[in-house]
Amino acid sequence: MEKQLLRLMVNGQEYELYINPKTLLVEAIRDHIGLIGTKRGCDTVSCGACTVMIDGMSVKSCSVLAMQAEGARITTIEGLEENGKLAPIQKAFIDHGSYQCGFCAPGMIMSAQALLNENPAPTEWEIREGIEGNICRCTGYNSIVRAIDATAKGKYAEVKS
Ligand code: FES
Ligand code: FES
Repeated sequence: MEKQLLRLMVNGQEYELYINPKTLLVEAIRDHIGLIGTKRGCDTVSCGACTVMIDGMSVKSCSVLAMQAEGARITTIEGLEENGKLAPIQKAFIDHGSYQCGFCAPGMIMSAQALLNENPAPTEWEIREGIEGNICRCTGYNSIVRAIDATAKGKYAEVKS
């Protein structure tokens, strides 16, 4: 299939890619742009490892074609920090011991940030619902919920290193 020009705006930077129109967004981000924080887990829209934000909303990047994201504002885990400093949600995950493997942590954090964008004061139930698309097979979710709750309550309002 003939390659096509695609302009993608990722983390505030525009990239010009020549890609197969069937390229998934996760493939464009990882294989063409080289931002490998976004992970490719199941490829079946089940695990959430590939979660990014498109115009501030969480999207599983294995579920959309890269072409569909043209003109949108894509944010990956690499785009959360500001001037080398972690975003509040990232700091909260560290402080609450919400550690996960490198596969699920980025997607979980992106879902958490998207949830807070949409609902800055979520209840515990809303937090659990907000991250239900991110599957971790080896840890519990309680520390993650606590980290999101603390961020929502402004305990990480200042970006910290
Ligand atoms: S790789 Fe996209 S949901 Fe698992
Ligand atoms: S910590 Fe990644 S699957 Fe559980």
